[in-house]
Formats: sequence, C-alpha cells, structure tokens
Amino acid sequence: MVGTVGAETMSLLSKGYGNGKLDLLPEDFDPATPPPAAVESNGVGGGRKEGEMVLGRNVHTTCLSVTEPDEDDESTGDKDAYMAGVLARYRKTLVERTKHHLGYPYNLDFDFGALAQLQHFSINNLGDPFIESNYGVHSRQFEVGVLDWFARLWEIEKNEYWGYITNCGTEGNLHGILVGREVFPDGILYASRESHYSVFKAARMYRMECVKVATLVTGEIDCADFKSKLIPNKDKPAIINVNIGTTVKGAVDDLDLVIQTLEECGYSHDRFYIHCDGALFGLMMPFVKRAPKVSFKKPIGSVSVSGHKFVGCPMPCGVQITRMEHINVLSSNVEYLASRDATIMGSRNGHAPIFLWHTLNRKGYKGFQKEVQKCLRNAHYLKDRLREAGISAMLNELSSTVVFERPRDVEFVRRWQLACEGNMAHVIVMPNVTIEKLDDFLNELVEKRSTWYPNEKVQPPCLAADIGRDNCACALHK
Ligand SMILES: Cc1ncc(COP(=O)(O)O)c(C=O)c1O
Repeated sequence: MVGTVGAETMSLLSKGYGNGKLDLLPEDFDPATPPPAAVESNGVGGGRKEGEMVLGRNVHTTCLSVTEPDEDDESTGDKDAYMAGVLARYRKTLVERTKHHLGYPYNLDFDFGALAQLQHFSINNLGDPFIESNYGVHSRQFEVGVLDWFARLWEIEKNEYWGYITNCGTEGNLHGILVGREVFPDGILYASRESHYSVFKAARMYRMECVKVATLVTGEIDCADFKSKLIPNKDKPAIINVNIGTTVKGAVDDLDLVIQTLEECGYSHDRFYIHCDGALFGLMMPFVKRAPKVSFKKPIGSVSVSGHKFVGCPMPCGVQITRMEHINVLSSNVEYLASRDATIMGSRNGHAPIFLWHTLNRKGYKGFQKEVQKCLRNAHYLKDRLREAGISAMLNELSSTVVFERPRDVEFVRRWQLACEGNMAHVIVMPNVTIEKLDDFLNELVEKRSTWYPNEKVQPPCLAADIGRDNCACALHK
C-alpha cells in the first residue's frame, strides 16, 4: 500500500513521525486498488497449496508507531497535522474495505449520527445491569430496556430472567456454558463439531469434559450420533450447546429434536441444560416461519446473540439471557461496586446498549422481519447465480450463508474479505449486501475464475464431502 508520499508527509516523517518507514497509506491512495497478497505464496497468482492454512499478513510490518511529541509541537502543530493525515487516510481505507466486505456476518448498514454526541462520555455499566453501581456515568436504563425486548422475543417474563449486554457473542457462550457448569458441576458438555471455537474454548477454560457430536452434511447436529454419545454417559447431567446458525455453513440445529433426543435417552428436564448459541442468526430465526422456535417456554437455560452482526451495532457487543433461578448460583455481591458480580467481564461497554436501543426502536419487529426476508432472497439469488456459472454452492433453507468453492487466489479472497475453511468459502448476506454488490462480486469471480482454470488441466476442487454431491459442480459431480 505504499505509494507516492506527499511533501508534507515526508517532512513529518523526517521529524520522526510514522516510525520513519513509509508505511502510511499514500495520499494518492486509490480505494479501487486491491490490497497486497496476504501471504508469501509459492502458487501462481497468490494461490494457496492444497490443504495450506492461509494466515493474514503480519501487522507489525504496517503498524503505526506511537512517537513522543517534539518539544516544539505545541507551537508548530506538526504532530496534530500528521495524526489528522493518518486518520483521514485510515478513514478512506475503511470506506473502501466496507464496500468490499462479504464474508463475515456484520451488517454494515447503519446511521448512528444521533449518538455522536455521546462519544465525550466514558459510559461503563460495570457490575449487574439491574443493580446500580456507585459509578453514575452508566446506561443501565437503556441496557435493561434492550434486555426486556429480547426477553419478550424469547418468551420469558421480566421477573423470571436475568441477562446483560456482553462484549460479543463469545462472551455470551462463555457465560451460558459457565451457568450450565455451575448448575451441573459434574455435567458433560456436548457440542456439534461445527460449533464455534468459543464453545470448545469454554470447555478448556472451565476444564469441562467435552464430547464432540457429528454433523449432517448441512452442518446441523446429527441427533443419531448425539443419542449414541448420550447413552453411555447417562449417569452424568448433560450441558448442550445448540447452534442457531453455525459459523461456516449457517446451519440451524433442530432444538426440538435435541430436546426430544435427550428425553428419549432418559434425561429428565432437571438433568440437562441447553445453551442456544444464536450469535449468528439469533435475531434472524424468530422471523423465519419454518425455523425451530427459540423460547424459554421450552426447557432451555440460556440464549445469546451478537449485537454487531445482524442487528448492526458498530462495535462488538452481544446479548445474553438466562433464567433468574440459575444466576443466583453464579453471583456474589461486591461491596466496592455496590453491585452484584454475575458477568464474565468487569467493566462493560456502556455505549453498546444505547446503540442497540436505538436500532431496536427504529426497526422494531417489523423492520427486522423485512430485513430478514431481503437477506434470504438475496442469498438465494447469489446461490442460483453461482450454480448457473457452474460453481459448487450450497444454501441451507433457514440461512443466508452461501457456501461455495474457495477462490483459488488469495488476493481475491482478501479483496472481498471472504471467510474460508478447507475447500469452502462463504458469503453471509446481511442487510447491507445488495444485488448490485453481489453482481459486482459475481462478475469479478467469473472473470477471474476463467484465468484460474483456463483449461481442463487445472480443475476446481471437489466439494462433495463438504456440501453434498448434489451441490458439487466439480468435474466428477456436475
Ligand atoms: C455460531 C457463532 N457463535 C459465536 C460466535 C462468536 O461471536 P463474536 O464474534 O461476537 O464473539 C460466532 C462468530 O462468528 C459464531 O458464528
């Protein structure tokens, strides 16, 4: 990304700013220029070798060093000018990177201009959301309003739930599984092998016995395998992570079938705890008619969702809700806070609940429903066009995650910020992903693909094992 650097920047660099290396975004930075290759690659055109895991670039080569101010900075204002230049160019990068983002489940379509006035405050909801701390610069009134909204969505009475706004979906999983472990200290954690890595991280952190359950080709938990793993462990309670949208394939586990399987194996409702990981689709599923309903009227213990994904919050956050009866097992009073400690983190982002409150008020149930329908429609459009172009692709019925053949070129993957695993890549269609953007992406993909596979000697990978033979368009299965 290093290009021609302007005279003003050169003079500031010579004063020692910017760590002396020309690693700033150039002033003539062209947002249309693709970023450099992510890895040193032996393959042609930034390709990867079969089975090779591609890690991102080492940020130390491009980081912006912090430098001490010069003695005369106050009078010259050089440092301020330098920093303003860096930020302006950084903003340009953000605009470009936002335009070309397709792979992660972030809704980048929002306008929170009305909240800019709040950035002057250090808003912190440390402690319990329902008990005020002595620290008065908080936003608990917004937080509890948001929690009530989600409690209504997941059908639990105000006096029967406890919850909080987390820092992300991972924290929701860490909390939900911790509550399960506190309720059943000798419980075994069951999670499908396609669960998010945070679930297995929780097992390691809490030193829990963890059993991985097989998945169907769709990515859903395989309840036949679940049964075979429950039966030999019947003497121990079960803590189950149920996916409301898996990370890679966007598969929604059948909550009702999971409960039925537990019952058939002889687990009474006081012998299991279900945490629903709705990080991805927790706020989409309630608006999809055929989806299994997530509801506290069913024997579940907790639900979590990420706030920066479908909801569209500009900072990582999430919502975690559990039953009041469970939280009492976990919590303790802290005199220093004048509040109760039942969260994973101490200090908590007090801005996030306000952003969530703002979005929920603006969109409401009807607004989310419309956005969900649009995402599902656009995801179908993408899947159909990929198949028409002869590219392996799969879209689960309840999902807006389109899984397809991993592009051969690492630069292309980076340009569109695709998420990849093995031979698969995916696009997650969020409300900001329009048909126009999908067309741009598809046209570019088809054009590039003709250079990656110019003749029969080089073939696209077979995806039958990942997404099923019917969805695979490799030479053997098309
Ligand atoms: C299924 C699932 N659970 C949990 C998470 C973690 O969410 P976060 O990135 O908000 O920590 C993700 C992230 O993509 C996810 O896909």
